[in-house]
Amino acid sequence: MRTSKINIMAKILANDGIHPTGQRLLEEAGHTVSTDTISMDDLLPALNEWDAVIVRSATKIRQVHFDACPNLKMVVRAGVGMDNIDVEYGRSKGVNVTNTPEASSRSVAELVMAHLFSISRLLYQSHLHMPSRGAAEFKALKKQYSKGFELEGKTIGIIGFGRIGQETARIALGLGMNVLATDLITEPREIRIPRDEEGNPSVLVPIFPMERVIRESDIISVHVPAVGKALIGAEEMAQMKAGVVLINTARGGVIDEAALLSALDSGQVAAAGLDVFVNEPSPSEAVLGHPRISLSPHIGASTAEAQEKIGVLAAEKLIAHFA
Ligand code: MLT
Repeated sequence: MRTSKINIMAKILANDGIHPTGQRLLEEAGHTVSTDTISMDDLLPALNEWDAVIVRSATKIRQVHFDACPNLKMVVRAGVGMDNIDVEYGRSKGVNVTNTPEASSRSVAELVMAHLFSISRLLYQSHLHMPSRGAAEFKALKKQYSKGFELEGKTIGIIGFGRIGQETARIALGLGMNVLATDLITEPREIRIPRDEEGNPSVLVPIFPMERVIRESDIISVHVPAVGKALIGAEEMAQMKAGVVLINTARGGVIDEAALLSALDSGQVAAAGLDVFVNEPSPSEAVLGHPRISLSPHIGASTAEAQEKIGVLAAEKLIAHFA
């Protein structure tokens, strides 16, 4: 670990910003915080002037930054996905590289449900037409959008049963849905409803092989990190129930976009909810323009509550490191 003096008053660059509560905690602990963004082009060699950097997804911290910045002691990803940081390389250089995975589970899980409610009642489509046609064609639109379905009783397959997957299950179970989960860790998980407090009723969710989850679910939501190739492609979609709904709030490309477009066109997939895209921040026009995809611009963790929790957790980790 790159060492600091005891009780160092650290210079911290929050290059993609930090919630004011997190900033206040850091400053009260005696640290200096800058929220001025340094562009990627200028980050080298400027980053070497800082003891720590807090990033969201915009700033990338690569091998070259770790090599060129021996003064950098800590990198905090304010969020979950660490695909914008060369984590193992940084750690091999003695830098404390960490994230705040505990803070945004609820926020992402609620967005999964927002997409699901929007899809189940066709809200994302009717909202497109109501402003221009609602007054003149109310009855026609009522007929067109009267083909919704209820979530109660439906089976949601959750691929990746970590914090976000489990939070999604908690909401789904509360809605009366059935949950089929798959994960690398195969022990069943106890999900308390409404939340993880002793005494609340709980449901023991078993972990099944992915093939079963894919075959038997009405809705599938993915909660796995990016691994460089699609986890759900044409082959997996072909094994799903006809008319399945797919949700991706994890990372662009976890569901293959080209395969998704063909499966939507064939009807094998009835609809999809996407918060994340290949090639962000410039997603494919074909994906953005598809009439059966409910869209949001990577806002899974972007609630006021999650951002505050993320800022506080990032601050606590920094304060502990430099204490
Ligand atoms: C995360 O990984 O924390 C979320 O996807 C939010 C983000 O990257 O902006």
